[in-house]
Amino acid sequence: MLKTEYHKDLTNMNTFRMKVKARAFVEYDSVADLVEIDLEGLPRPVLHIGGGSNLLFTDDFKGTVLHSRIQFIEILAGNLQNSEEDGSLENVLDQVRNRGEQIEVSVGAGVVFDDFCKWAAEQGLWGVENLSGIPGEVGASAVQNIGAYGVEVKDVIRTVYCYDLQEEEFVHFDVEDCGYGYRDSVFKHPDYRGRFIVTHVVFRLSCDGGPKLGYGHLEQAVNLSAAGGKITPLLVRNTVLKIRSEKLPDVASVGSAGSFFKNPVVESSVYERVVKVAASEFPGIDVPHYDLEGGMVKIPAAWLIERCGWKGRRMGGAAVWSKQPLVLVNFTGDAFPEEIIGLEKRIIASVEDKFGITLSPEVEHI
Ligand code: EPU
Repeated sequence: MLKTEYHKDLTNMNTFRMKVKARAFVEYDSVADLVEIDLEGLPRPVLHIGGGSNLLFTDDFKGTVLHSRIQFIEILAGNLQNSEEDGSLENVLDQVRNRGEQIEVSVGAGVVFDDFCKWAAEQGLWGVENLSGIPGEVGASAVQNIGAYGVEVKDVIRTVYCYDLQEEEFVHFDVEDCGYGYRDSVFKHPDYRGRFIVTHVVFRLSCDGGPKLGYGHLEQAVNLSAAGGKITPLLVRNTVLKIRSEKLPDVASVGSAGSFFKNPVVESSVYERVVKVAASEFPGIDVPHYDLEGGMVKIPAAWLIERCGWKGRRMGGAAVWSKQPLVLVNFTGDAFPEEIIGLEKRIIASVEDKFGITLSPEVEHI
């Protein structure tokens, strides 16, 4: 079904809960409907949103917002089909388990990403359990290369299927061709931005992959949850959800878009400068960092922001989340975009001033 609305209130379609409107809004629930959309007759520009969880609307949107409701989760039995008569989910999973194989799962772009994580964990499938609780939908996850607790979605994506608005044809990108980087992909680059609409994504999950617990204190937290029992995808998922709930605001009750800034990746000389500043201003406190390839260093933006005194601070309707300063929130629920942007600018200026590092927003400003 194709549904077109005009002057659509987007408050409930962006997790920052900015009270903005779109001149036109079109929702579709199949690829057949997607190709039927007559973009020529609709206001421009066109913006495709997922869960609206990584966006900051800075004003009413003058064009057309598209939203997918293509919602399916389907196991691609492929190599299993010939061998068995019973194609039920349980039977297919049993075969995969017996063979210790990976399994390919096709998921519609409009599926809530965490519903997919829940489904996978409940089937005992490894791959996306560390990504549990990230707001947003599957299509956007493949554009943004979402990540958490040492896993990025690119690690489990096999193919991204899209509709090319320019050539008006269906195309697909194998994971190697998606140009994935830290919260980055070809779909975000100027030539491709807005051109490809993700219709569905094929993921590779596994029955016997085992957990990835290398990030921070995840291993300790998972062992504690297991308390001598078996570590399953569901247990890792529940542990991740618990850690997230202790640090991050629940977008259902506090407007935010998750991490507002990217963690800066800097030359080692810049890192050394930060170490010097820290030694003189915060003696005894180490600068957390991760060494990357090519001598580059990643420094948590949360640490830089906290050291500039922003943790928990409020400016008008906007605030810095008290448990994770990388997250800016719509504190009153009525914040204007200008208030969020004002806070963003002040934070960028003070981190620049103290550490000589310019933070870049992760959240897309529309
Ligand atoms: N830190 C502080 N003060 C704080 C919180 C954190 O100094 O109040 C420092 C600590 O040194 C900590 C480090 O920041 O060790 C890292 O913190 P955390 O593990 O919370 O991760 P992050 O780098 O701040 C990233 C992602 C999150 C993801 C977490 C967990 C980005 C921009 N953000 O945050 O993703 O959940 O790792 O893997 O990469 C999101 O993208 O919306 C998001 C929430």
